[in-house]
Amino acid sequence: MTVRIEPSILSADFVNLEAEVARIATADAVHVDVMDNHFVPNLTFGPQMVGRLQTVAPIPLDVHLMISDVDRWAPGYAELGAFSVTFHAEATDEPVALARRLRWIGARAGIAVKPGTSLDPYLELLPEFDQILVMTVEPGFGGQSFMADMMPKVAAARAAIDAAGVDVWLQVDGGIALDTIGQAAEAGADTFVAGSAVYGAADVEAAITELRASAER
Ligand code: DX5
Ligand code: ZN
Repeated sequence: MTVRIEPSILSADFVNLEAEVARIATADAVHVDVMDNHFVPNLTFGPQMVGRLQTVAPIPLDVHLMISDVDRWAPGYAELGAFSVTFHAEATDEPVALARRLRWIGARAGIAVKPGTSLDPYLELLPEFDQILVMTVEPGFGGQSFMADMMPKVAAARAAIDAAGVDVWLQVDGGIALDTIGQAAEAGADTFVAGSAVYGAADVEAAITELRASAER
């Protein structure tokens, strides 16, 4: 299985983002957490910032939208050139129509579920998506504890992806660190977001290498 490590800039220095993304050039993508203080009780940045990041980042942008009204806002992030745009299932009544629009614009389409949301309705629609994101913390903040009780959800998604024979990436986000990434990989995740475990490390590049090695074991 191909392992992807995607550091989250939520834990980076927001006034030095160009330098902060340069530090993670050996990772597979930059995970960009967009929050609107409505869908989650925290606020980060919007399309203007993500557009600038797109022009300076050495690796692709994996945009995670923790915002309401995604039918209105998500396509704009794809138009900015983001490699991948993931919206929350809880934020739209039309996930398939939105995913199709994102793909049509040229982005990979991802769907995310909060810990309390079932993934089952979406496992029947796998060919419509390029990525499934199983949140392993309540979305909103970095540095929270990994929810190991989400592993059955990850395993069910892995089983459905393999049974359908589709190339859908299975991402986990929240509390991923050296002591938790192995469990998530074991459950079937292949794409790992890590904020504090990367940007909180003394040696960011070594942290990426070590996370990758732990997931590949
Ligand atoms: C949380 C965000 C995560 C966050 C993860 O709502 O979606 O991407 O940055 O941070 P850590 O890895 O510190 O849990
Ligand atoms: Zn995220």
